[in-house]
Amino acid sequence: MASSCSSSIIIFLFLCSISTVISSDVATLLGKIKPALSTSTNLELSSWNSSLPLCKWRGLQWAFSNGSLLSCAQSPSLLSNLSLYKDPSLQLVSIHLPASALSGSIPKEIGELSSLQSLLLGVNNLTGVIPLELGNCPELAELDLGGNFFDGSIPVSIWNLCGKLQTLSFHGNKLSGSVPEPAVPNPSCTNLKALDLADNQLEGEFPLFVTRFSGLQELDLSSNRLSGSIPDSILKLNNLQRLNLSYNNFSGVVPPLSKFGAESLQGNNPSLCGSPLKQCGSNSRLSSGAIAGIIIGLMVGVVVLASVLIGWYQGRKRKNVSKRIEEDEMEIEEGDGGEGKLMVFQGGEHLTLEDVLNATGQVLEKTSYGTVYKAKLNDGGTIALRLLREGSSMDLASCLPVVRYLGRARHENVVPLRAFYQGKRGEKLLIYDYLHNRSLHDLLHESRAGRPMLNWPRRHKIALGIARGLAYLHTGQENPITHGNIRSKNVLVDEFFVSRVTEYGLDKIMVPSVADEMITISKLDGYKAPELQKMKKCNSRTDVYSFGILLLEILMGKKPGKGNEGSDLPALVKVAVLEETTMEVFDDELLRGIRSPTEDGLVQALKLAMGCCAPTPEVRPDMREIVKQLEENRPRNRSALYSPTDRSEIGTPF
Ligand SMILES: *[C@@H]1O[C@H](CO)[C@@H](O)[C@H](O)[C@H]1NC(C)=O
Ligand SMILES: *[C@@H]1O[C@H](CO)[C@@H](O)[C@H](O)[C@H]1NC(C)=O
Ligand SMILES: *[C@@H]1O[C@H](CO)[C@@H](O)[C@H](O)[C@H]1NC(C)=O
Ligand SMILES: *[C@@H]1O[C@H](CO)[C@@H](O)[C@H](O)[C@H]1NC(C)=O
Ligand SMILES: *[C@@H]1O[C@H](CO)[C@@H](O)[C@H](O)[C@H]1NC(C)=O
Ligand SMILES: *[C@@H]1O[C@H](CO)[C@@H](O)[C@H](O)[C@H]1NC(C)=O
Repeated sequence: MASSCSSSIIIFLFLCSISTVISSDVATLLGKIKPALSTSTNLELSSWNSSLPLCKWRGLQWAFSNGSLLSCAQSPSLLSNLSLYKDPSLQLVSIHLPASALSGSIPKEIGELSSLQSLLLGVNNLTGVIPLELGNCPELAELDLGGNFFDGSIPVSIWNLCGKLQTLSFHGNKLSGSVPEPAVPNPSCTNLKALDLADNQLEGEFPLFVTRFSGLQELDLSSNRLSGSIPDSILKLNNLQRLNLSYNNFSGVVPPLSKFGAESLQGNNPSLCGSPLKQCGSNSRLSSGAIAGIIIGLMVGVVVLASVLIGWYQGRKRKNVSKRIEEDEMEIEEGDGGEGKLMVFQGGEHLTLEDVLNATGQVLEKTSYGTVYKAKLNDGGTIALRLLREGSSMDLASCLPVVRYLGRARHENVVPLRAFYQGKRGEKLLIYDYLHNRSLHDLLHESRAGRPMLNWPRRHKIALGIARGLAYLHTGQENPITHGNIRSKNVLVDEFFVSRVTEYGLDKIMVPSVADEMITISKLDGYKAPELQKMKKCNSRTDVYSFGILLLEILMGKKPGKGNEGSDLPALVKVAVLEETTMEVFDDELLRGIRSPTEDGLVQALKLAMGCCAPTPEVRPDMREIVKQLEENRPRNRSALYSPTDRSEIGTPF
């Protein structure tokens, strides 16, 4: 500031007079950072306004010059103090605005925030270069600019931050050039635990100096254009727990990284060799004939494999069913012609390989990775068959452990898996109970005659059922199961409004590209947690996010999503809360018969859903907590649950 003050007498008077009345960080924030971060009106940034109490400015944390944090929550007088922002001893310590629709760039004045410890701006639409001045923030420990559109090169000043830096992510931007060498010789960055530069356009060699960052636990350089060999000194990183060098152009011999599998190294120059990749010296390229075979196989597979498979045995002699082998609580049956294996779980003991392959099917749903059939068995029973086309799922050895614990899941709110079949070409069938129920999606969004009225007691029962089913999958068994694809299309609801979740755990048996594709679909449909932008694996917290969206869908009666098909439900709620029109977000049908939205648990359910959709995964509740809150905040008039007059129209029974 000294130099700007001397450059012109007018600026001198202006800036220096401001700095005497308000903290210089507040002045920088309002004067430089806020206008730069967004090119249009932004919900979060508009709260940074001196006509609102400082404690209501979103995404910020402050400290006094003696180091103690300003804890707004602890004192109501702070929460409403309109002159607090003038306190000259205030310093800005963190800016957390992940997934906040920011669309500007980071101004160079960021470097004036001398106490900034944490800057999390991931998953926004920020553009421009990452300013060199960022290296002037001596306290910076956490930096996440992932999932934006930053371009240019990584500023060399970033390594100035080595003293304090603990996590650094530039994942998923358009950064190019090489990873810059630190200006200081031998920086050790001892506190740095996670370095993620993946999914950019970085070139050049493996950044050798990184192997001196001895505290590193996660290193992700995947999906760039790095080339050359992987240095042996990477073995010095003793604390490394996650490594990803995939999808670059690394070549040569892989150092003996016994802790990491091929997934950490795939998609590099074909000459990259050594464990866990192919042995060096052999040539394992596919012949062009084999490739043609695969392509033709895929083309044919998509179109006709399914129908062929279901009628596989039709027209064949029906006697080649053979041995059944007991294994744990399940049985495996093998056809003697090498037709594949059937593994049955509790409740599926009556199924035989012959039955399943002879079943006549009717397509219920088609996706790029498979098809769901309603299939009639010879004995008159009906099953739901989910066919995963060849190539979409992992090999049998990787699938079996997952399928085994999926087959053990038994809960009132979970559609049971009864059997599993793997054909000799790698195609797989998952066999579930067929339920004559409608999906929650149809119930909420399709108006058909006879559709039951979805009042709040009914919707509450449906939501609680889903929550219980998911809580069971997450924590009810020895092996936790992540659902991975929670959406209203994957919830079935029966005539008593008991809900059951289906399609759980499938992402774990798919090959990575198909798992990614499933995530992409869920993104289009609006159920995807923002952090899945950078880490591709679903977990229980991403499930909670999807559940939050689903709960909003239930409360609002609107389809989630972005674009013409659906709406950004959390954003609608935020706007309504700001504009004090919260009651208007609820679906009309749901409000019927409700006297007090608070006493009936409606407001609590909305808050709960918004908590589940928090952009920061750590603050989301877990499924047990969600079940508890839904149980504690029930609608009062539960007789409305089953009353037959509560149908939206008179018509065929549901
Ligand atoms: C701050 O808020 C007030 C009242 O809401 C509004 O009139 C004013 O334009 C805002 N100032 C800025 C800089 O956005
Ligand atoms: C630091 O300063 C603030 C405000 O000046 C004061 O409220 C707080 O008690 C101080 N904390 C310590 C530990 O001195
Ligand atoms: C508001 O905060 C300022 C600065 O910390 C303080 O001087 C003032 O007494 C506070 N006002 C109220 C009403 O608490
Ligand atoms: C972000 O950018 C994408 C494409 O560049 C655009 O479709 C989207 O609307 C932008 N979002 C916001 C909130 O500006
Ligand atoms: C990958 O590296 C090799 C040299 O190791 C080079 O010949 C080739 O052009 C590179 N490929 C790409 C796509 O950059
Ligand atoms: C490495 O990243 C690629 C994509 O960038 C991903 O497909 C792969 O699963 C990742 N591997 C590990 C071990 O995380």
